[in-house]
Amino acid sequence: MKIESVPFFRMKFTRSEIDAVTRTIKSGWLTTGNISHQLEDKFCRYVEARYGAAVGSCTAGLHLALKVLGLSRGDEVITTPYTFVASTEAILHCGARPVFADIDPVTLNIDPNRIEEKITPRTRAVVPVHIAGLPCRMEIITRLARKHKLLIVNDSAHAIGAEFKGKKIGAYGDLSSFSFYATKNLTTAEGGIVTTNSRKLADEIRVLSLHGMDKKAWKRYLDQGSWYYEVVSLGYKYNLADMNAALGLAMLDRLDILQQKRERIASWYDQALVKFDEIELPARERDSKHAWHLYIIKLNLDKLKIGRDQFIRELTESGVGTSVHFIPLFLQPFYKGKYGLSQKKFPIAMSAFERVISLPFYPDLRKAEVKFVADAISKIISKHRKI
Ligand SMILES: Cc1ncc(COP(=O)(O)O)c(C=O)c1O
Repeated sequence: MKIESVPFFRMKFTRSEIDAVTRTIKSGWLTTGNISHQLEDKFCRYVEARYGAAVGSCTAGLHLALKVLGLSRGDEVITTPYTFVASTEAILHCGARPVFADIDPVTLNIDPNRIEEKITPRTRAVVPVHIAGLPCRMEIITRLARKHKLLIVNDSAHAIGAEFKGKKIGAYGDLSSFSFYATKNLTTAEGGIVTTNSRKLADEIRVLSLHGMDKKAWKRYLDQGSWYYEVVSLGYKYNLADMNAALGLAMLDRLDILQQKRERIASWYDQALVKFDEIELPARERDSKHAWHLYIIKLNLDKLKIGRDQFIRELTESGVGTSVHFIPLFLQPFYKGKYGLSQKKFPIAMSAFERVISLPFYPDLRKAEVKFVADAISKIISKHRKI
């Protein structure tokens, strides 16, 4: 069949995943319960963390992670400007102040060597974001955190399956928040989980995620449950429903296979695009396992007569869906206004933003579709290459 177009995102679920959701609906128990707790246990084993608290989103998880570490007004948290707004929202919702360090031009992750210059007596934590699923240099970040007594909360939204120096990303830092959003490597439609090796922190998050009610409160409508509960802290409505968790729990059974497919598709793209001097391929690092959430190419603009936006327009005209990850926070009106941020302070993030295109990337992308995308790219390059 002739390929006419390739969407940016597409996801197919198996019969057993659909059945798992249906079973949960039929069980009559829709919201937080045994299924979300099973997902917590199974996911923790997958990312090599001891405890996990399922939440309504990675954003909610980041908020609670920073909250249980005691982040509050007057504290500073170092993070990257090259991320989705969620990473920074969580810092602000705690009353703390985000402090941005520019990124590494190749990996697109926070440049670990720029973190130290941002540390002040008010700095309490670092939020590394593992962009596209490529782990940050955790050995440097961990060393800095020890030296300056800083906490580490990983924004692991893209990092399901990622490993750094042989350890899963969930094994690093104080807490990690993963996303189960619809497009993520593992999904519950909307959802997330905070993982940690501290039982106390995981328990606190679980309590905060359900109105600050004590640990057993979710059972109050079960036959063996009790109507009585106690509110022990000022909480939030950040829990993950079983109806959602059922999808993620079933999908975990084939997560390794899905990850292998992502790896294979990344290498198909690499092979198809490596010949173009006009394109820089996504970074790979020898001591890391990439989670391949996104496949982000960078245009070498000095070799092209058009910019990234025109390149995207022409890809769209050819039937190729794309996206841009990310519009740096210093370009967002709210952050620009609130912190007087200027792109001049983040030249590397700015230059990366002008060059990046995220290509269609999902486990059931076929080789012929990768070829379709590569052919479209090839035609645009031939038309606009500087000679
Ligand atoms: C880097 C990053 N952090 C956090 C999030 C937030 O995830 P969620 O939608 O689960 O809150 C996203 C969402 O795409 C993201 O890309």
